[in-house]
Formats: sequence, structure tokens, C-alpha cells
Amino acid sequence: MTESNRYIPYALPLIGEEEIQAVTEVLRSDWITTGPKTKQFEADFAHFVDAPHAVALNSCTAALHLALLAAGVGPGDEVITTPLTFCATVNTILHVGATPVLADVDPVTLCLSPEAAAAKITPRTKAIIPVHYAGHPAEMDAFLALAQEHGLAIIEDAAHAVGTSYRGRKVGSIGDYTAFSFYATKNLTTAEGGMLTTPHAEAADRIRVMGLHGISRDAWKRYTAAGSWYYEVQEAGFKYNMTDMAAALGLAQMARFDAMQQVRRCYADRYNQAFAGLSALELPPGADEAKGDVHAWHLYVIRLNPEALTIDRDAFLDALKEEGVGTSVHFIPITHHPFYQRTLGVSPTDTPVATAAYSRMLSLPLYPKMTPDDVSEVIRRTTSLLERHRR
Ligand SMILES: Cc1ncc(COP(=O)(O)O)c(C=O)c1O
Repeated sequence: MTESNRYIPYALPLIGEEEIQAVTEVLRSDWITTGPKTKQFEADFAHFVDAPHAVALNSCTAALHLALLAAGVGPGDEVITTPLTFCATVNTILHVGATPVLADVDPVTLCLSPEAAAAKITPRTKAIIPVHYAGHPAEMDAFLALAQEHGLAIIEDAAHAVGTSYRGRKVGSIGDYTAFSFYATKNLTTAEGGMLTTPHAEAADRIRVMGLHGISRDAWKRYTAAGSWYYEVQEAGFKYNMTDMAAALGLAQMARFDAMQQVRRCYADRYNQAFAGLSALELPPGADEAKGDVHAWHLYVIRLNPEALTIDRDAFLDALKEEGVGTSVHFIPITHHPFYQRTLGVSPTDTPVATAAYSRMLSLPLYPKMTPDDVSEVIRRTTSLLERHRR
């Protein structure tokens, strides 16, 4: 493979010697599952996002599930969310026996539209789950106002939003519950992992219990000299706890987080500059920094303008792959999956803004392990394809 056609993957984690050493230390320490490293990761992460309480879990999916339970969402309730999300957001609503209600997205940010969400509120609505899509902050003031007016819980899906701020407030310190993902492709990774932050002390205690079988006390202490063999099960909980190996990885990633984010921002700026003025592309919106918003640039999502091209999105993705550029699509909307069509009666026409965006969107590689040359190559190959297929 030559320089001009070497494959540039869509996403890679940045794991250095620090991470390897941190995990190895845990492996040598005799304490590999939930323990002191997890406690430290929770404390450091809470501090990092200005959250009063943080509970480390084994995924963002687990965090969403426990947030819904802690918010008292159950059978007969409705939860409003966006169709432009990963299936976990909707599946967890179904897991607590509630009904997901999809409202359309904002055409610019592709985050849940507060106006569309407001129009879906009924007496059964119990919560709203905005997604900070791609790392761009959702319109939190509008959602908080809706929550206050209608007595709803706000559960933020912050799977893309470690490092996102809204109006000077860090995501993690805003809504009732915020669920983060540390999955392998995320901008801070523990391979698999998640964190739930909340200002509600009692809810945090219950989440901790529910994340470990419903067992009443810090189970990890049971095996220490200070611990006791005795415990009680308070509720039928889940096995959602984070391991100390994952927490050690997370702590090492936090130490380099600012540097990694700087690289993401720099690469996003390079894409913006290189693609500016191309009529075939709509570029992702930046955050309104003057108002105190910060974009985490987890994803760089471009939208093709079909009237300027002789090729559609699917063919463009295939052609980019041929050129050696890995891409992804965020997301196949919930309305497009046969399962949700069958069980929820949803259809792509319910949320036309999300459906139109889906048909035009693709996510380009954006991660700190990319080299500046990789970025140049993605730009070169993308612009050359656009040129070749210009109408
Ligand atoms: C918007 C969104 N929500 C939730 C999740 C689930 O995260 P996890 O894999 O940590 O459970 C993802 C993962 O990709 C996501 O993109």
C-alpha cells in the first residue's frame, strides 16, 4: 500500500504507555474489580464535570437504564427523545416498561428540538432525554424550562459529550441525570464503561445499589480487612459495576484528555477550513463559544448536498472506502429500524428533519491518534471524490 491509498480507519483509541502501565498496576495489585481505582475515577470525574455525585458503571446504556429507574420512570409513562441516536437510548426506555416518544431534531445541530419535544408532551410524559449529538450541546435551557413547567426529569445522553459545555456549564452538571460513555471509540475510553452523574444524593445512593445487584452496602469492602461478610439485598438490581482495570484506564485517559481534545479541535478546524465554500457539502455547526458553549468534537458529521452531486450518500460512502477512508453514519434513525416500526408504530415520515439528514450524512475520521498527514489525506480524497462526482 502506498502513501496515497493507505487505509485510514474511521476511529482508533489513543492508548499510550501510561494507560498500559496503569492497567498493569491494577493487574499486579490483587484488586482487579470495583475498588479503590473506581472510587478515585468517580471522584475525579465528578470534579472534572462539576457534578455533586458520579457513579461509575460498565456502560452508558447501564447509566441510562439506572437513570430512568432513579427518575421513577415505569410502565404507563412516556419518555421523549430523538430518533437520531443509538438504539440504547430507546431500548433502556423499553427496559423500564415505558414508551419512547420520538420528536424531531433541530436542522442545524441535529440535537433534539425543544419545540418538537414540547409538542409531544402529554399527561403521561415523565422524562425527556436530549442527546448532545456529536458533542454539540443540546438546548438545555429550553429543556430545563419544559421540565420545570411539566414536572419532568431531564436525563442527558452524554455518550458523545465528555468535554461539552453549555452556557458555561459543563455537561454532567446540568440536568437531573447525565449518562456518559467510555466505549472504545469515544473521546475518553475505558474500553467499555460509563458514568452517571446527578445532583440528587439519594438517587446516587440508589443508583450505586442498583448497579450492583441491589446489595445494600459497598460490596467491594466486603473482601477487605475493614469489611464484613454480611449484606442485604434491597431491590432486584443489575450487574453494572465498573472494574478497577477500566477505572485505571479512565484515570490515565483523563490525565491526557485536554491534550486529546486540543487535537480534535485542531483537526475539526482543518476540515472546516478545507471544506469551506464547497457547495456539495454542509459542514457541522461549531458551538457558540461567545455564549460559553464548548463542542467536544466526538464526531465530524458532514451532509452531502444531493443537488450538487451525481452520487448519493450510500455510493459516496462506498467510494470513500475504495479510496481508503473509513467512515460511519450517526445514526440510522430509530424510525428506520423494523423492530421499532413494528413495536412502536413509528415511521421515517414522523420526523422528517432527522430522516432528511440521515439520507445525506456521514461521519469522517476524527480522533487524536490520526496524524496531521492522515487529516490531509482525508481532505484530499474527500475533495477529489466530490470533484469527480460534481453535477
Ligand atoms: C448517543 C449514544 N447513546 C448511548 C450509547 C451507548 O453507549 P455504551 O456503548 O457505553 O453503552 C451510545 C454508544 O455509541 C451512543 O452513541
